Amino acid sequence: MADTALAVPRHIAIVMDGNGRWAKKRLMPRVVGHKVGMETVVKVIDDCARRGVQYLTLYAFSSENWKRPDEEVSGLMNLVLLGVSSYLRRFAKDGYRIKVIGERSAVSEKVRAAWQEAEDLTAANTGLTISVAFNYGGRWDIAQACRAAMRDGLAPDEITEDALSARMALAHAPDPDLFIRTGGELRVSNFLLWQLAYAEFYFTDCLWPDFDAAQLDTAIAAFHARDRRYGGVKA
Ligand code: FPP
Repeated sequence: MADTALAVPRHIAIVMDGNGRWAKKRLMPRVVGHKVGMETVVKVIDDCARRGVQYLTLYAFSSENWKRPDEEVSGLMNLVLLGVSSYLRRFAKDGYRIKVIGERSAVSEKVRAAWQEAEDLTAANTGLTISVAFNYGGRWDIAQACRAAMRDGLAPDEITEDALSARMALAHAPDPDLFIRTGGELRVSNFLLWQLAYAEFYFTDCLWPDFDAAQLDTAIAAFHARDRRYGGVKA
């Protein structure tokens, strides 16, 4: 079958690892790696939209990233503000819808307001849905969905997979088809633990700032070579 006949993954989720090492190799501060990483984010968003991907979920800041040095944490927070002020209007015009998933109460008022503006300005768009996982953890997500179900008054028998899925942070998206992790580590790092149940995993040594359209195509080609059975047998 020709490549063009193969469906692109509807939903791609990415752990963007390797910014720090990319900077270190160049004797630069880690935060420079994150800044270049943000430029990669913008390119990959456009590359995914061009290929017809409908949902892209990016791990930008994990619940555990608070343990990093203050300078790096504040550098990442400032990047959110810079990213929103530099790209939001263009993204809105291009039809992208932005969603932010994660525990918002712990982030500063300024960052919260920037995320809110991004969501509000793009809420009615119908193009690529970009979900930014920020102060996100997969275990947090499962726990918050359980709390929401209890608050909604569900009885124990009503706590079904569907009831929890509907309360998870990514309830607006189908489960990811393809999980990509750059930077050479072979782990999930508490990302989308619930939603990755049937995703295909693709790992690359490429450091995130070096990830480009060709790398994305290689990941998508690897996805096409997989035989997805969802626990069943081959037809
Ligand atoms: C992991 O690389 C990357 C992060 C913790 C942050 C990802 C952030 C961006 C790509 C910047 C753009 C996004 C926003 C919205 C702020 P690492 O620092 O763990 O790299 P290392 O493993 O080489 O140390």
